[in-house]
Amino acid sequence: MTATPPVVTLIPGDGIGPEVTSATLRVLEAAGARIGWEEVAAKPIVGRRAEDPQADPVIASIRRNRVALKGPLTTPVGTGHRSINVALRRELDLYANFRPVRPLPSVPTPFPAIDLIVVRENTEDLYAGLEHIVVPGVVESLKIITERASTRIARFAFEYARRAGRKKIAAVHKANIMKLSDGLFLECIRQVARGFPEIEYREVIVDNCCMQLVMRPQQFDVLLLENLYGDIVSDLCAGLVGGLGLVPGANIGETYAIFEAVHGSAPDIAGKHQANPTALILSACLMLKHLGQTEVADRIEAALYRTYERRRHLTRDVGGDASTEDFTSAVIGELQG
Ligand code: NAI
Repeated sequence: MTATPPVVTLIPGDGIGPEVTSATLRVLEAAGARIGWEEVAAKPIVGRRAEDPQADPVIASIRRNRVALKGPLTTPVGTGHRSINVALRRELDLYANFRPVRPLPSVPTPFPAIDLIVVRENTEDLYAGLEHIVVPGVVESLKIITERASTRIARFAFEYARRAGRKKIAAVHKANIMKLSDGLFLECIRQVARGFPEIEYREVIVDNCCMQLVMRPQQFDVLLLENLYGDIVSDLCAGLVGGLGLVPGANIGETYAIFEAVHGSAPDIAGKHQANPTALILSACLMLKHLGQTEVADRIEAALYRTYERRRHLTRDVGGDASTEDFTSAVIGELQG
């Protein structure tokens, strides 16, 4: 008798979210992934709902299933709306954001040898959103860095590096200016690094890191960053290999994990059948590995790579003219071929 498939929370998301989600489900189904889906819609967090996250059906579903696959969610700019993305990460204590950055065959990049992992602390820093008006015309925003969160993310990065045979970790910071906050972040990482003598550890100031990344990104292996620097630098890294439509991501905690693409809801192309589902398909592969379905993930990745090698059915963002659906059918064709 075969075991019951794991149930995963599915959040289609906004904008291009439903398009890339349905493409991803088609590929997973064609590959024979064993998953039962529980679909939930996420709505912007406004007013009282923000104070009662337990009541949120999205959070309740992920607490039940422990794993979610998520499309991008729009965060309206301005007051009154909290980011659901940030709320989910905080509420479920998804403290590690994990983004592998690798070029895909035939997608133009000046750096074909990049093989980077971006590890970003996901729960604090300026992202805590602690802002207030001191007096009209003066706003204060608090950057929170704690020993606990910094040590925990450092441990995650070093343990991952050891498991995956990665050789180097660079901590990215601005401790020359933010001596206390970024200074504490670095101090915690140095402590953890002592337990991993086989991994080469260095520190690089964030502005220099950005310049190095656009000139010689091959020098980096694993980047370890606070929340805000991580947000910015990981998009920069996506740009190095061809754009936001290509890079997968995972938000991981002790108990729960949400897998999602790096990109947002792309309102400029939503509904136009132009979205590239690659990032979400690769995020789903990370999820399958997390669920122990590594063989299925490997087959999907191989089919995706072959589709890129052939260059016939690529979406606009990577120089083709195929629709989301045609690209997806081409990946499925490679899976079944
Ligand atoms: P975005 O990532 O949605 O779009 C930036 C540019 O990249 C656009 O030109 C878009 O067309 C293109 N792009 C993004 N994904 C693509 C794909 N799969 N295929 C082809 N082209 C793609 O970033 P933006 O415009 O800053 O944000 C839009 C909304 O998304 C905002 O409300 C933002 O808060 C939200 N967002 C949500 C995220 C999440 O749910 N994890 C992450 C980032 C942004």
